[in-house]
Amino acid sequence: MQPDVIIIGAGAAGLMCAIEAGKRGRRVLVLDHALKAAEKIRISGGGRCNFTNVNNAPDKFLSQNGHFCVSAFKRYTQNDFIALVKSHGIKFHEKTLGQLFCDNSAQDIIKMLYDECTKAKVQIQLETTVLKITKTDTGFSLKTNRSDLRCEHLVIACGGPSIPKMGASSYGYEVANQFEINVVPPRAGLVPLVFDPIILEHTKELTGVTIDPVEVTSVSGKSFREGMVFTHKGISGPVILQISSYWKPGEPVTINLLPDLSVLQWLKEHRQHQAKTLLHNILQTVLPKRLCEWIVSDLKIDGRMADLSDRQLKEVADRISDWTVKPSGSEGYRTAEVTVGGIDTDELLSKTFEAKKVPGLYFIGEVVDVTGHLGGYNFQWAWSSGWCAGQFV
Ligand code: FDA
Repeated sequence: MQPDVIIIGAGAAGLMCAIEAGKRGRRVLVLDHALKAAEKIRISGGGRCNFTNVNNAPDKFLSQNGHFCVSAFKRYTQNDFIALVKSHGIKFHEKTLGQLFCDNSAQDIIKMLYDECTKAKVQIQLETTVLKITKTDTGFSLKTNRSDLRCEHLVIACGGPSIPKMGASSYGYEVANQFEINVVPPRAGLVPLVFDPIILEHTKELTGVTIDPVEVTSVSGKSFREGMVFTHKGISGPVILQISSYWKPGEPVTINLLPDLSVLQWLKEHRQHQAKTLLHNILQTVLPKRLCEWIVSDLKIDGRMADLSDRQLKEVADRISDWTVKPSGSEGYRTAEVTVGGIDTDELLSKTFEAKKVPGLYFIGEVVDVTGHLGGYNFQWAWSSGWCAGQFV
């Protein structure tokens, strides 16, 4: 087949774009260097794929240009994707915060995309590495490890570098560099944060302790309220993954371990009514035991409530409600669910996803500088951007 359109990347965005272009009668070839297509869909959502969020909205996304995604989300909404899922008889449920998961398995979504590709006569060629892209008068020529190919339109849908062992790469940024298209510096997002050895020395005995909810706030003022877990390297859990996308190296985060309690007032009341009770026993009524032991030993404040001064109670309250800690870094691309940054949206037309400088070249999905919060938003971006580009390529 001589394709009209070549899409590099058989992930969520690439397959959605291929289906839409194929439905328009375009001859579409999808290339992927991996052994299997859609590997990130397979492992997503703990194997059940959190495929969208009923509350999808532009304010759930990070980008240098917060408006860029608006048009795509208007044209292909979460409801459009839900309708597609329903039309394939896939059973799903809402877990929390509007997150939709397959009842059975993420494989249901992969099968749906494959079935749609078959209907739209899309060809998928795996284990194919693109060695060289050249712009021609009529489109592009590609040299791959298998053969030389030509196409009119070329779509880059190869995601970001998060989780390299799943086939992720920075190839999209290399293509951008080749065509002098600006890339917003990428960094790991939705990723656990790590502590340096000095802090870890104090917190390592907390490994496995979970608290839900906590409220975490970044220097920029962004805050999230969800569950947190201490790990042997630092902190993780949904609330930490969320804030990590906003966190920058060198910055602290502020953690409120009991966001629904006015802790100082609560401690003072207990000093009055339970004067003989030890502080750590009071704390254990609202926080996990190991965490309470850590707080009192780290602050070196414990004993009968009656013997504790206002200043000491304030120190304890501050540690619980306003714990400011500086992570030394994140776990990086090895475990990050997404990559923040990517192809500068100023370089793309928001209607078509075509590069302004290079007619016929398109960028969609995670490779673009649009990154969703945790909760199905990143797949919705892949579906919406892929669908929109699919109407034009
Ligand atoms: P994606 O990464 O899916 O696809 C890119 C494709 O390009 C891959 O098939 C890759 O092999 C291929 N490729 C890369 N480089 C190439 C090259 N040089 N040549 C050829 N092919 C190349 N999101 C969400 O909304 N809900 C969820 O439940 C989850 N869960 C989740 C779990 C885990 C563990 C991770 C790592 C990520 C998630 N995500 C998520 C994020 C979500 O997986 C991600 O945002 C989308 O898969 C992005 O879709 P894309 O199609 O843009 O890239």
